[in-house]
Amino acid sequence: MGLILDIVRSAPRNADAIGVPVAAEGVVPRSLGMSRAALAANGFEGKAGQTLVIPSATGPTHIAVGIGKSGELTVSVLRNAAAAFARAAGRRANLATWLADVDGVDARAAAQAVVEGVALANYRYVGLKNDKTGSPAAVLALIVGQARTDAARTGADRGGVIADAACLARELANTPPAYLTARMLADRAVAMAATAGLDVEVFNRDQLKAMGCGGIVGVNAGSVEPPRMVRLTYTPKKPTGHVVLVGKGVTYDSGGISLKPSDAFHVVMKMDMSGAAAVLATMSTLKALKCRVAVTGYLMCTDNMPSGSALKLGDVLTMRNGKTVEIHNTDAEGRLILADGLSLAAESKPDAIVDIATLTGAAVAALGEKMAAVLGNNQAWVDQVRAAGARTDEATWQLPLAREYRKLLDSNVADMRNIGGPYAGTITASLFLDEFTAGVPWAHIDMAGTMKADSDDAWLAKGATGYGTRLMIDLVTNFAPVR
Ligand code: BES
Ligand code: MN
Ligand code: ZN
Repeated sequence: MGLILDIVRSAPRNADAIGVPVAAEGVVPRSLGMSRAALAANGFEGKAGQTLVIPSATGPTHIAVGIGKSGELTVSVLRNAAAAFARAAGRRANLATWLADVDGVDARAAAQAVVEGVALANYRYVGLKNDKTGSPAAVLALIVGQARTDAARTGADRGGVIADAACLARELANTPPAYLTARMLADRAVAMAATAGLDVEVFNRDQLKAMGCGGIVGVNAGSVEPPRMVRLTYTPKKPTGHVVLVGKGVTYDSGGISLKPSDAFHVVMKMDMSGAAAVLATMSTLKALKCRVAVTGYLMCTDNMPSGSALKLGDVLTMRNGKTVEIHNTDAEGRLILADGLSLAAESKPDAIVDIATLTGAAVAALGEKMAAVLGNNQAWVDQVRAAGARTDEATWQLPLAREYRKLLDSNVADMRNIGGPYAGTITASLFLDEFTAGVPWAHIDMAGTMKADSDDAWLAKGATGYGTRLMIDLVTNFAPVR
């Protein structure tokens, strides 16, 4: 993984393809060797995301890359345009692109966006195919003038770190369940921590039981694979705050005794650990990005399986914070493991908590695959989460934490049950989680819809999206105290 990045002053002669940004109006760069009329005659108008490959008998292929109207140019447009360039470059390995010099986007942000766009579009999951032909591009050079070199270097390096993290999250989520059990996911976290300058602790089943983490132990009851909880800690010198991230790491969600039907949709339940993958990936960047707040990450890892020892309907679990939960559906397992993670998070009295989880089909029904649901107990914190997602182009939409639905969780035998009624499933799941946050500012990201893409689309690659990784990196590196 990872592109070799370079900052250069003129087009490298050995490049296989050179991207040339072209706006929808104004002058066409001379290096393209084509007039606007000639481009238009070939169907290229400079619209954002349009590309035109200009064949050449010798030397690099030039690719016109549309960036739209200059007044409408944003970081997101540049990221998309860079992704379109990478796709148009096909299997060429050695890429270079001019960095558009435009008002409103400084060189640092532009370079970061271009590197992210190319690297994310370049991602391929090779997996277990015998044909190991993977990501095409190996080198990306940004061509910029002297005045913008330093800023471009900083932005490009940042973009490289962030895109690698998102690709790591994709790689983990794309991995088949037998190749990524809870133990293996924990091993991956330990290996990552060693190179990323983080402290790491791994908790096994006995330890989790002794800690009173009845949620994760209960969900794991039907499995032959033991659970793991991983705590990753990043501590900078003189931290300006403390944020805790909690990720749902269900390495396979069969539904348990409330077994899911074996339709095509459930093949993707290997991706039910996408939240934990995003937290792991986020943590991997913090030292490199010189994040100024302390960040703790909890990965709550287990699969959810039916068996003679599995959780039953009517069973009651006692969670880490002492609250009791009556099980009405073993497929509502994510909230059970998050309950323990959130309880532990709240105990450390951080400034804020975020959890991220592929939690409810209801979020997919409500918002589809292009935006995640966000809910929380503190509007300023929810706003920060949403602002981060807007900057990284990982869309969110807020749903209300509507207390009037809390009674749907009432149980006759325990403090609550683990499902609400047939409607508002994302909201009732969030009301459940809220019981474990002890009033600490908390936001919940339900990424059930955004965990996968059905086709390649701009910087998205078919399969796991790595959603939330770039959002959380942006969030913690731009953290402003709430409360
Ligand atoms: N992992 C699923 C949610 C999910 C659905 C993620 C689709 C990605 C795509 C979760 O554990 C689940 O099964 N939720 C149930 C909850 C219900 C039983 C209250 C659901 O949404 O159906
Ligand atoms: Mn489930
Ligand atoms: Zn699940």
